[in-house]
Amino acid sequence: MKTLLILGAGKEQVAAIAAAKAKGIRTVALDFNPKADGRDLADEFHLVSTRDKAAILNFVDGYKARIDGVMTIASDIPHMVSAAAEKLSVRHIPVAVAELCVHKLLMKEKLRHAGVNVPVFARISTLKDLEAFIAKAGFPIVIKPVDNSGARGVQRLTAGMDIAEAFDYSRGFAYSGEVIAEKFVTGLQISTEGLIHDGIFHCTGFADRNYTRLDDAVPFMVEDGGDIPTILAPAQKKLVELEFEKAARALGIDWGPAKGDMIFGDDGKPYVIEIAARLSGGNFCYDKVPWSTGVDIVDILVDMAVGNEVDPARFVPIRDLATSQRYFFPSPGTIRRIDGLGTAQDMPHIRKVDIWARPGETVATLENHPSRVGYVISCAPTREEAVAAAQAAVAKVAFTVEA
Ligand SMILES: Nc1ncnc2c1ncn2[C@@H]1O[C@H](COP(=O)(O)OP(=O)(O)OP(=O)(O)O)[C@@H](O)[C@H]1O
Ligand SMILES: [Mg+2]
Repeated sequence: MKTLLILGAGKEQVAAIAAAKAKGIRTVALDFNPKADGRDLADEFHLVSTRDKAAILNFVDGYKARIDGVMTIASDIPHMVSAAAEKLSVRHIPVAVAELCVHKLLMKEKLRHAGVNVPVFARISTLKDLEAFIAKAGFPIVIKPVDNSGARGVQRLTAGMDIAEAFDYSRGFAYSGEVIAEKFVTGLQISTEGLIHDGIFHCTGFADRNYTRLDDAVPFMVEDGGDIPTILAPAQKKLVELEFEKAARALGIDWGPAKGDMIFGDDGKPYVIEIAARLSGGNFCYDKVPWSTGVDIVDILVDMAVGNEVDPARFVPIRDLATSQRYFFPSPGTIRRIDGLGTAQDMPHIRKVDIWARPGETVATLENHPSRVGYVISCAPTREEAVAAAQAAVAKVAFTVEA
């Protein structure tokens, strides 16, 4: 029996634990949260922070039995996955590549150097740097910490905003204190995902991101789910896929997963916002893509991680359905009641409704993805039906919030 080490046992990693168990692979999961959702599902659970490299290496070092592979889902810790896998001498991308992928500035420099189409950007160390960048690039711009995720500290700045305040805010979310500014690219926001297997890049996931709430949370950029299939024409989609692959390879990802934050610009060009060297979160890799195409890259990566053979036929879609996801964003305050959950669940085409906030808990103002409290996902024959179903289900759930 093979053993897979999974970094994280939270909501987003449950799919990895389940996929491994389903094929008879023993699962060892680490999480700093004793109440992690996947704790009981995993064969073994250990209280180890997945952001504490020394603790992970110490765990791996002291583990008595053989571990055949390491992976995670959604958590932006490819450098921890690679460090553990290196120590175990199991398949991984080089630690240096993984580290590059968790640093938005170094990543962009590498991509630009390789001729990948990225927005104009600059390192911002002082307010003067930011002023100089705005003078050169012009509004709107995006400012973000170089080393955080979940849109924490990401802001879109337009003329007339207090840029000094914005700079301090973003810097507050940067572990290293470093900030990057980019020209804001207008166009269709896209999530892409793929796996490199035997040197071949398989782009398995392609979804249009829904930013209709962009103006609700100014200056923050909060995505409200997304839709499959894309509205792009096949030739446009191909351009995005090619730029995605070019970027992943330029960063040195030569095996395993890549998740792309991409834009099909209003200028007709594909842009890379960033590439993550891990599987996606937000139900993309483990719900929406498998439901719409039948391709299950969580299952595939589990096999790849432990060194099992993978038949390339598993990358070929076997169906063509639409999915749509929308989040719940109650107004800030204390949740008193949540009504309509059952009604939403029973509506046509609704596959999943999940709300993690409970009455008594407080909802923060809309600043980043952690301020979402739940979602619905629909699956239907067409995109129009899927979107309408997801929107209708969201509308059925009522949050009573005390401001
Ligand atoms: N220069 C840009 N132009 C247009 N949109 C951008 C730009 N930079 C970021 N965005 C949008 O904001 C989102 C968040 O930015 P980014 O990916 O850099 O931060 P993050 O913390 O990794 O967030 P996420 O977890 O959503 O990916 C991007 O996925 C993209 O949709
Ligand atoms: Mg991102």
